[in-house]
Amino acid sequence: MKKNMLLSALMAVAVSFFSLTMKDYFSLYQSPAENGEENRLKEAFINGGAVGPESLAFDEDGEGPYTGVSDGRILKWQGDDIGWIEFSSVSPSHMLDECRGSQDPKQEYLCGRPLGLCFCKKTGKLYVADAYFGLLIFDNKDKVPTTVSKEAGAPFYFTNALDIDQETGVIYFTVSSAKFRRSEFLSAIITGDNTGRLMQYDSTTQKTQILLSNLSFPNGVALSSDGSFLLIADSTNCRILRYWLQNSSFEVFFQLPGFPDNIRRSPRGGFWIALHSRRNTLEKWLLSLPWIKKAFFYGSNLFPSSSINGMMQFLKRMPTKGVMAMRLDEDGNIIEVLENPGERKMVFISEVHEMNDSLWIGSVMMPFIWRYKI
Ligand SMILES: *[C@@H]1O[C@H](CO)[C@@H](O)[C@H](O)[C@H]1NC(C)=O
Ligand SMILES: *[C@@H]1O[C@H](CO)[C@@H](O)[C@H](O)[C@H]1NC(C)=O
Ligand SMILES: *[C@@H]1O[C@H](CO)[C@@H](O)[C@H](O)[C@H]1NC(C)=O
Repeated sequence: MKKNMLLSALMAVAVSFFSLTMKDYFSLYQSPAENGEENRLKEAFINGGAVGPESLAFDEDGEGPYTGVSDGRILKWQGDDIGWIEFSSVSPSHMLDECRGSQDPKQEYLCGRPLGLCFCKKTGKLYVADAYFGLLIFDNKDKVPTTVSKEAGAPFYFTNALDIDQETGVIYFTVSSAKFRRSEFLSAIITGDNTGRLMQYDSTTQKTQILLSNLSFPNGVALSSDGSFLLIADSTNCRILRYWLQNSSFEVFFQLPGFPDNIRRSPRGGFWIALHSRRNTLEKWLLSLPWIKKAFFYGSNLFPSSSINGMMQFLKRMPTKGVMAMRLDEDGNIIEVLENPGERKMVFISEVHEMNDSLWIGSVMMPFIWRYKI
């Protein structure tokens, strides 16, 4: 039953792609020779040894982007001449020097791992969903983070993404799991963990509330332009859910050909949904990890064969085609698709953030952000 539903959803997506090639479709990576515009794509390299600019935010003056990286720092882009400067860090002050430059997931519980970023336009303050430390706010003056929310009944464990209702100051955020840490995200997916939650933090009353629970790896979240609904990336199930704020009900909004990460509203309308990876790439990467390889070829108590089957099922659901992101309108129709034709290694895309005339493309693994002039 579930399989059939998935199949028909994939068929629907395939049909949409076909019709798109006829009209609105555009490919992000036409070869430069073809369009004669070598300078449309640029990389903004992260300094100081860190990697993984997962999420991006612009402040109330349109400056930035700001991003959080693997060593806990929050960086701000100051243009080509200056590059990235250090805005702040989520790491505790006594850990700052030790954490700087870290790419080690085992260090993350000490250094923090800032994932979701968003500015409150009214106060000018930056909110950060840190995978380990919960929902944080940065004070404008000394730029030191304060935790505003880190538990609701139980500790969050894996805070991931956020969006802010700029009218009301209410913050919506996701907790991907109540069992697994970010460094164990693969286990969360493979075991079908469904302890994820959609949360709300009201900055006026300072109250935290659970909106939806029992989600399978909820990831990105974005509010609609009229503030009536939220889209949530239901990553393990390769789909986007729509949550109506007025009556607290939810429905499947869109079934995707890959694993969704962050969702951002586009200033031209609709939402950019970043797709994490292509199947081939992830497969190769997974098999390069010694513990997976061992379990795969020799069996393992730690990782029973049912989990391996789960993993293979998981991989089968990934697209082989290089779709990296999609822009959907507020009714769930595809407006445009970003595609990777394969020569450029654009993988592990975590966010597509449109600002002025550019797409800023973040990744959870890479040492840079891509910029693409529309
Ligand atoms: C976007 O445009 C606004 C208005 O022209 C400008 O102030 C801002 O710096 C721009 N931001 C970026 C990141 O290009
Ligand atoms: C949702 O999760 C709670 C807490 O783990 C559990 O008690 C409940 O049975 C779950 N509900 C569904 C519909 O799975
Ligand atoms: C909730 O509200 C939305 C928008 O008005 C509507 O489309 C949906 O059917 C409602 N759901 C329920 C269960 O009332």
